[in-house]
Amino acid sequence: MTERLVVASNRGPVSWQRGDDGGLEVAPSSGGLVTALGGALSDEDGTWVSLALGEADQEVAAANPGPFPVEAGDRSWRVRLLDVGDRYDPYYNEVANRLLWFTVHGLWGEPYEPRGEGWRDAWAAYTSVGEDVARAIVEAVGDDDGEVHLQDYHLCGSPRAVRAALPRARILHYLHTPWVGPSELRRLPDAVSEGVLAGLLGADVVAVSSPAWAAAFRRGAVQLLGAVADGDDLWFEGRRVSVASFVLGVDADALRTAADDPDVRAAGERIDAERDGRALLVRVDRTDLSKNVLRGLRAYELLLERHPEHRDRVWHYAILQPSRQGVEEYRVYLEACTAAADRIRDRFGERVLTFFVGDDYPAVLACYERYDVQLTTPVRDGTNLVAKEGPTLNQRDGVLVLSRDAGAADVLRDGALMVNAYDVEQQAEALHAALTMDADERRERAELLRRGAAQGAPHDWFANQRATLRAATTPRVERI
Ligand code: G6P
Repeated sequence: MTERLVVASNRGPVSWQRGDDGGLEVAPSSGGLVTALGGALSDEDGTWVSLALGEADQEVAAANPGPFPVEAGDRSWRVRLLDVGDRYDPYYNEVANRLLWFTVHGLWGEPYEPRGEGWRDAWAAYTSVGEDVARAIVEAVGDDDGEVHLQDYHLCGSPRAVRAALPRARILHYLHTPWVGPSELRRLPDAVSEGVLAGLLGADVVAVSSPAWAAAFRRGAVQLLGAVADGDDLWFEGRRVSVASFVLGVDADALRTAADDPDVRAAGERIDAERDGRALLVRVDRTDLSKNVLRGLRAYELLLERHPEHRDRVWHYAILQPSRQGVEEYRVYLEACTAAADRIRDRFGERVLTFFVGDDYPAVLACYERYDVQLTTPVRDGTNLVAKEGPTLNQRDGVLVLSRDAGAADVLRDGALMVNAYDVEQQAEALHAALTMDADERRERAELLRRGAAQGAPHDWFANQRATLRAATTPRVERI
């Protein structure tokens, strides 16, 4: 029997905006989660529950109280858009993107942060949004048992709420972020850390992108909630929960198709002219604190300081997509990065660095194709798909300088130059090594990177999750 498939995430596959003519325009969303799931789900017969993010989304939600079909680009989905009103800000900005995101990425500036005050109302909003999402899921499942795939740290309370309403549902919750063990979780108020873990353990399978995050999840559940470990599984409140990891890779064909576009070719010509024979060092990221852009810029500055021979021979092009500017720390961080970029240009000349903050996907794809070095050095990252997209499209045997704390390191460490995200001196030396590497080594490493990036393409990644969910739940269903 095939259960009705429902997926739920904060950000859906598309969002709406008011165009210049005042009409509603739909556009595909970006970000790792949507990149992965959008492809995997576009030809599945299921419903995607997501939240209304802005005013235009809210209008669309008001006009469509139930699931409705949506098309963007060459893809289509059945979407249920949920408007949670004023609760969106505390749910998204306070709890999800501050408390939880900072905790799982190790971003707190101790001993000052987190301050531990003012969280109760935000947590109440987060909890009630999770319950609303659960209700929308239950409606979408109808009178079926349901196969439910929840996504990410925004919706940690929902599995438990869905389970309460649909005891026989098959539920998998995928966390696209890293996960952390008990000592880091304990920086959160107890109600939050315990609520998040207990909520997630309402699922049959808690899924992550790396075995390291799975092991951390088990340790936290055992120590904070008293769950009992049983091999890779956990027992909690009389139920078995599997904790599993799934490599998430790149859809190489989709990426090549996207790159085969006149806008990408035009961007490539512009980049080649500006590069003017120099080595191209690329960074592609959201302006997220976890991406470690500031230390990356400092590493580049150290490279130019200590190896003056590179000053005329390298061009660093950083393309940064603005992200979560509703959170103060994000705004302050972007200012700090911009100031660092200005300082580097003051010291070494305008030509050494282009620091672009905005959306320019054609330039991203054109950079992927032609970089000599890609710098991807997150403090911590669930996967870090850009580290896989670059090598997939690159045509120059480009070198990847990669942080060892990105989930992508699981499959890229043999091909990349691995660095400690906190050690800018080491990163500067890695950049020097990358820029001076001989052609044979570049070729060998690029081949390893391409092979690593191809593992776990989105369709396989999602199919593996469905198979694991089925295996984890089949005995229970048979008994009933
Ligand atoms: C990460 C998260 C996703 C999120 C994306 C973009 O990849 O795991 O859930 O959608 O960042 O962040 P945003 O806040 O813009 O949705």
